[in-house]
Amino acid sequence: MSEPGKTKFQVDLRRHLRETDENRDLTRLICEIADASKYIVHSIRTGDLGVAGTSNLYGEEQLALDVLSDRILQKRLSHSGVVANIVSEERPDIITVSTESAGKYSVAFDPLDGSSLVDVNLAVGTIVSIYEGGDVFQPGRNQVAAMYILYGPRSTLVYSTGNGVHEFAMNALSEYTLIRENVTMANAGGIYSPGGQRNLYSAGTESFVQDLEARGSKLRYSGGFVPDINQVLMKGKGIFMYPHLKNAPNGKLRLLFELNPMAFLIEQAGGAASTGRERILDLKPKSIDDRAPVFIGAKDDVARAEEFIAKQG
Ligand code: F6P
Repeated sequence: MSEPGKTKFQVDLRRHLRETDENRDLTRLICEIADASKYIVHSIRTGDLGVAGTSNLYGEEQLALDVLSDRILQKRLSHSGVVANIVSEERPDIITVSTESAGKYSVAFDPLDGSSLVDVNLAVGTIVSIYEGGDVFQPGRNQVAAMYILYGPRSTLVYSTGNGVHEFAMNALSEYTLIRENVTMANAGGIYSPGGQRNLYSAGTESFVQDLEARGSKLRYSGGFVPDINQVLMKGKGIFMYPHLKNAPNGKLRLLFELNPMAFLIEQAGGAASTGRERILDLKPKSIDDRAPVFIGAKDDVARAEEFIAKQG
C-alpha cells in the first residue's frame, strides 16, 4: 500500500530495465520483444484459428498462429538495430540480420510454444534467449537475458538479465507493469509436472516420481511448457520434468528454444535445472535441433531426481 499523501506509480518494463540494467541496447531489445508480444496476444485473442495455407473470410492468406508469431518477432528483431543473428523454433536455419556482430546480440526464440493448445483454449507462451555476439551455439550459462511471455487469462512477462527474476502483467493499455520483483523458489515443493508417457520412463525416473507421490506431491500438468514452468516458478516450489524416455533418450524439449532460457530463469530464482546427470546450462549446443531430458524446479527435488537416475538410470 502506498503511504498516505503519496501517489503509487506503476513501474513499467522499460523503467524497470533502466533501473536494473545499464545496457541500453539490451533494454531496447527486451522492450522490442515485449512490444512484439502485444501483437501476438492480439492474434491469439482475435485471430481465426486457421492453418497455414488457407484463406480467411476476405480471401487473404491466413497464417497459423505459430507462423504469424514467428513473423511478428522476426520483423521486430530485424529492425531493432541491435541483433546479429536470430534462430527460431519455426525455422530450419539461422537468420543473419547483421554480419557485424560486435556489440550486438543473438536471439533464440520459440514464438508460440505449445501452439496446438490454442485450439482447446489453454495457455501458451513465447520463450526467448539472448546472447552477446553472433554465436547462437553457446552454453546456456552465457545467456545475458532470458524471458517468456505467458498468454493465459492474463498476459504476463517474466525476465531476467542475471539480476533476479521479475514478473510483469499487461494492463488495459497493453503496457507491462511490474507485479513481482525478485521471484524466489523454495528448496523443495509439493507439485510435480511430468511430461512424456509414464510407461516409457526409465527405472530411475519412475522411482523418483513414486518418491514424489509418497511425499504428497500433487500432479499439475497442462501440456504447455510456459504455463507449467510459470506455475513452478511463481508458486516457488515443485518440479517440471520431461525426462529421457525408453524410445527418446533425449526427451522432447529443445535446448536452444525451451530449456536454456527456462533453466536460466529458474536458476536465477534459486532453483536448479538438470538433464538428470548434468546441469542444463553447461551443455554446449551442437545444432539448432538439440534436445535434452530435463528436471527443473526446486533445488532439492532436482538433486533427488539426479540421485535416482545415478543409481537406476
Ligand atoms: O514442445 C512443445 C510442448 O507442447 C511443450 O510446450 C510441452 O511442455 C510439451 O511439448 C508437451 O509434450 P507432451 O504432449 O508430450 O506432454
